[in-house]
Amino acid sequence: MEIHPLHPTFGAEITGVDIGRPIDDDTFARIRQAFEEHALLLFRDQDLDDEKQVAFSERFGPLEKTFSQNPAGGTLFARQSNLDIKTGETIPIEDARMVYQRANMLWHTDSSFKRVPSLCSLLSARIVPPEGGNTDFADMRAAYDALPDATRQRLEGLAAEHSIAHSRAQVDPNLLSDYQKSIEAPPVKQLMVRANPVTGRKALFIGAHCSHVVGWPEEEGKRFVRHLMETAITPDICYSHQWREGDIVVWDNRSVLHKATPYDSKKYKRLMQRTTVAGDQPTVMQ
Ligand code: OGA
Ligand code: MN
Repeated sequence: MEIHPLHPTFGAEITGVDIGRPIDDDTFARIRQAFEEHALLLFRDQDLDDEKQVAFSERFGPLEKTFSQNPAGGTLFARQSNLDIKTGETIPIEDARMVYQRANMLWHTDSSFKRVPSLCSLLSARIVPPEGGNTDFADMRAAYDALPDATRQRLEGLAAEHSIAHSRAQVDPNLLSDYQKSIEAPPVKQLMVRANPVTGRKALFIGAHCSHVVGWPEEEGKRFVRHLMETAITPDICYSHQWREGDIVVWDNRSVLHKATPYDSKKYKRLMQRTTVAGDQPTVMQ
């Protein structure tokens, strides 16, 4: 097994492992250590089906079930695709399933709208368009390190409100039902700065689900979150992944933001399958 950094601040490609087969504990310990250190791991040329993806993902911890609105909602998968799950036909752009996926184009971290936010996501490329459809990633540890001292001090101990209603409202305010907004996924609080328990490195924890600061006047908190989103994510902390079929990327949702980028969904097919590993505790008392 070899580890090759992908970007100056984060990300590494791991070669020499077939993750579709059972992995011995020593090898997995090295993969896990690389994950803590590099925050994003790429494995190429993997021959994965759903079952193998679940088996590898579970090495990181128990998996989440996905939000009801995803086409694979309620299963262990989130399906990012323009193909109908039953017929395989291309889904029209104005269909609610495509509108819902548009929110993926906002910088976000998966499941920060859950009381216990996720540890990591694993996204595997099953069908890839010949152009477009990259996934962009931002290293929020490097973003935190680059903040002015005064901003870092201001963030100390702050929590923010996160909700799926907030992220989806940026695409279409009518996308979610009242049940989904208030019962299935009511707003939660998350610390704005999270430290990795293994390396101690701090990361700025914001993104599209994050709306305002808990305990501040709402407008002021919204402005602060927007200001951070606009200034902290700079090109030098970003890596754009151009997918090849057989790629799987694992990213640390505690310290990396990501977003989908456009592709011609009328012309090309895209099918990505995501598994999400649950976190083990809330970041803050609710
Ligand atoms: C995801 C996601 C981005 C993409 O699967 O969580 O945001 O490019 N995907 O499909
Ligand atoms: Mn996502």
